[in-house]
Amino acid sequence: MNLTHQPLSRRLSRTDLLALFVLEGERPGLPKGVEVPPGALKGFKGEFRETREIHAVAGSAARVLLLGLGKEKALDAERTRRVAALAVQRSEAAGCASATLLAEEGFAEAAGGAERCGLALAEGALLGSYRFERRKSKPKGRRLRAVAIRGGGAELARGVGKGAVLAQANVFVRDLQNEPANLLTPRDLAAAARKLAKPGRVRCRILDERAMKRLGMGLLLGVARGSVEPPRFVHLVYKPRRRARGRVALVGKGLTFDSGGISIKPSSKMDEMRFDMSGAGAVLGVFHALRTLDVPFEVHGLAACTENMPDGAATKPGDIHTAMDGTTVEVLNTDAEGRLVLGDALAYAVAKVEPDVIVDLATLTGAVVTALGHEFAGVFATSAKLRDELVSAGEETGERLWPLPLTDVHKEAMKGSFGDLKNISGGDLGAGSSAGAAFLAPFVKDVEWAHLDIAGTAWGGTNRDWVGGPMGSGFGARLLVRWLETRK
Ligand code: BES
Ligand code: MN
Ligand code: ZN
Repeated sequence: MNLTHQPLSRRLSRTDLLALFVLEGERPGLPKGVEVPPGALKGFKGEFRETREIHAVAGSAARVLLLGLGKEKALDAERTRRVAALAVQRSEAAGCASATLLAEEGFAEAAGGAERCGLALAEGALLGSYRFERRKSKPKGRRLRAVAIRGGGAELARGVGKGAVLAQANVFVRDLQNEPANLLTPRDLAAAARKLAKPGRVRCRILDERAMKRLGMGLLLGVARGSVEPPRFVHLVYKPRRRARGRVALVGKGLTFDSGGISIKPSSKMDEMRFDMSGAGAVLGVFHALRTLDVPFEVHGLAACTENMPDGAATKPGDIHTAMDGTTVEVLNTDAEGRLVLGDALAYAVAKVEPDVIVDLATLTGAVVTALGHEFAGVFATSAKLRDELVSAGEETGERLWPLPLTDVHKEAMKGSFGDLKNISGGDLGAGSSAGAAFLAPFVKDVEWAHLDIAGTAWGGTNRDWVGGPMGSGFGARLLVRWLETRK
């Protein structure tokens, strides 16, 4: 789909559908050059997500779609994304080839300014029309080819441009997630990362098994043992043109399939474990955006990519593996593999990147789905500042976070009896997500750090028009770019 900005100063160009956004309690105003039957606008309340389709009688639009924005006070980026998504979905359902979304001044202002409004409209339009059809032998294709966001001037145009970049990064992540595990192996994921390299801007290095052995990544290699697919470790680097304000490491769990290993999972819904690379996907997605967007930090993107499979060589419950930083780990449950690969990835970050701050993303625990469902990811952070920065980036992007606790008690529960650590907690700790985070903590040493457990948000959310349902959500990339842009 081709998304453009159309300044208000230009005449309204011909369009199959003109979307008019209406604040609750305000009367819809038709722009010049569009005529509808008498009374067609009457009685429209403007309630959030209320819609009405009108066949125009004359002028440059064949149809007019009225779309309710709800109360002015409640209008934010999320509601703006949602109505933009609804607008493109209705256009598509009506068989339109083109649509124009009108962002009048009152709407832009109520949505928090022209740039913010343009950004959210662009995201909503592009993400609301997402489909994964790559693996259909006869893809439906789409009729809706051109969407114009009409309004304002340079500020709105800037928002639309930026929104398009962020949406494309999200779509890139969704495409990686939705790809089945036989068609997206750890090597394929690494190849996707390598393609993100851009001279003078983004570098990419891929470590193979030999390089991992040399570094002593025994935890990652221990998880990979049971698979015929070799693991890969991705290291991306973005450097800003101007002097960097600090060095950030983003770390992602990249299990292209998690069967559980010898501690094998039940077969019901096991297909969903192709999404277990969503953390790595989000890290790659950030770099997709950084190819065009500038942020004031040096950013390192690390992804630990492997399958978790059971075979004769697989890690057995009770086996002890040694991490890159020398920590020995008793693997009591081979299905708690995410924390193992992340242990090595975090140790690599600390030793090789020497970052000021680390943020990791992982589909780490089923427990976070129980605790927070599909609308909030859990965030654990070593400082209130970092936690608050991430939470507010989540509010703005609609990729929301909720703080969870990590204390000494959780860390003590991960101490091993035969090795230094064990990969599942002992006793009656409960708090599975905190236990997962507590396992990771020692690998981070005393670097400022946040861990995002995205097991619930990576897919399966309720329909929010631009996201939701049984497919990958692309969660995390837009959130982290926003954080990198706004971090103090
Ligand atoms: N990838 C799973 C976590 C997961 C579960 C993500 C459900 C999405 C939906 C992870 O590797 C895992 O298996 N975690 C175990 C840990 C347990 C064995 C301590 C879990 O949560 O059950
Ligand atoms: Mn697992
Ligand atoms: Zn997993």
